[in-house]
Amino acid sequence: MRGGSTTRVRAARWAKLLAAVLVALLGFAGYPGEQSAARYRPGAADVGDPYVPGLGNGGYDVASYTLRLRYDPAEGRLSGTAVVVATATQNLSRFNLDLIGLRVTAVTVDGRPARYRRDQGELIITPTRGLPVGHQFTVEIAYGGVPRPITDPRLGTNGFLTTTDGAIALGQPVSASTWFPVNDHPSDKATYDIEISVPDGLVALSNGVPRGTRRADGWTTWRWSVRSPMASYLATVVIGDYRVRMDSHNGKPMVTAVASSLPHGPADAALARTGEIADFLERHFGPYPFEAYGGIVIDDERIRYALETQTRPVYSAVFFADEPATWVVAHELAHQWFGDSVSVHRWRDIWLNEGLATYAEWLWEEHDGGRSVREIVAAEYARTDWSQPAWDPGPDRLFTRAVYQRGALAVHAVRTTIGDDAFFQLLRAWAETKRDGNATTAEFLALAQRISGRDVTGVVEAWLAGRTAPPAPA
Ligand code: TRP
Ligand code: ZN
Repeated sequence: MRGGSTTRVRAARWAKLLAAVLVALLGFAGYPGEQSAARYRPGAADVGDPYVPGLGNGGYDVASYTLRLRYDPAEGRLSGTAVVVATATQNLSRFNLDLIGLRVTAVTVDGRPARYRRDQGELIITPTRGLPVGHQFTVEIAYGGVPRPITDPRLGTNGFLTTTDGAIALGQPVSASTWFPVNDHPSDKATYDIEISVPDGLVALSNGVPRGTRRADGWTTWRWSVRSPMASYLATVVIGDYRVRMDSHNGKPMVTAVASSLPHGPADAALARTGEIADFLERHFGPYPFEAYGGIVIDDERIRYALETQTRPVYSAVFFADEPATWVVAHELAHQWFGDSVSVHRWRDIWLNEGLATYAEWLWEEHDGGRSVREIVAAEYARTDWSQPAWDPGPDRLFTRAVYQRGALAVHAVRTTIGDDAFFQLLRAWAETKRDGNATTAEFLALAQRISGRDVTGVVEAWLAGRTAPPAPA
């Protein structure tokens, strides 16, 4: 009786073990009819944003990047390691990161060497075992080489470029994947720790809070950290000869820098107003969303733009050629709320960034003794080509008047439709509820309706996407 019972227990144990082994094997290999959740499949090679085919990836969600890099200006060579911490959002047999150019020399996943191969802008990593959905994993990539920017007739020069005194990594919508392996799409925001070693005497600036410098063997290592989730295109490094000011504003670090090649003058004067302009915007948009402030003025012919790189916009010197233009500072600082803290989910919604940042320029101009918003609106309305839409402008028209000025006119139409109180309440609620996240046009319109009690969809559609002029604003 006893013996018989013992035998049965043993048999049951074996059966269970066998079942477990079978489940594990089948779960790994998958078989027809098996639930898809149990299967291990490659993550998508692309996030599915038609504006940027190939960029972004599927199957995981990055939490943090830690970059430990060295840049040797004599050779134009960048080298180091990237540590990516991510969580699998499906059972992953393998996954991709975006990386354009450069040479990968070793990859580990959770400390174990992983197989990897390159296919154009993709780095394809196959870990020794599958990564189950929900598993947080750590990828370490050793890499190096001479980075190359991407030059596009419509989008300009984007990515990592060598300068006479150092290098600049800057660009939109693509930039990050020219200098580190990354899920290169704004829909996957992450924190960053960036360390860059450069020859003593050079400056190496980046985003976020300065974590000090270290010197050893003729090299200086500059450390920076970004604790609020950041979209990859907002990551920057600027290396070279700069006049750096380490300050603080509202108890947070403020780091401003101007290329030493520029005379002391308008660029320094414009940057010096960063705190004042951020405080002005804060009164309209709610609390400044980040842990640091700043700005960098670069002097390179190839970049005739400014970019809202998180916490520390980069400005081309062309904006400050003869006067300390503050409108561009207001524009890039407004992006800290709209674009950086609240980011697009897909690039077709770029007007949410550029329309709001351009509208902030108008608010600032009115405040700073220039034209009134009404005067600016009338002038821009008269200049607008209504055949071009602000919403879903097409990948070649991301940075056109239709997106910036027409987008800002649509913002103003929301204001006149729902009234000043509801409008500024909307901007604050948008910044607050979507802080550190991603958002869409439909969500913006839904919030406008919730706050004002009015359906603004029709009005906004006419201003954003209609092919003929809406009635002139009063
Ligand atoms: N988004 C930037 C702005 O509105 C402009 C921009 C577009 C840009 N593409 C860029 C800047 C590439 C630098 C590099 O201010
Ligand atoms: Zn902008």
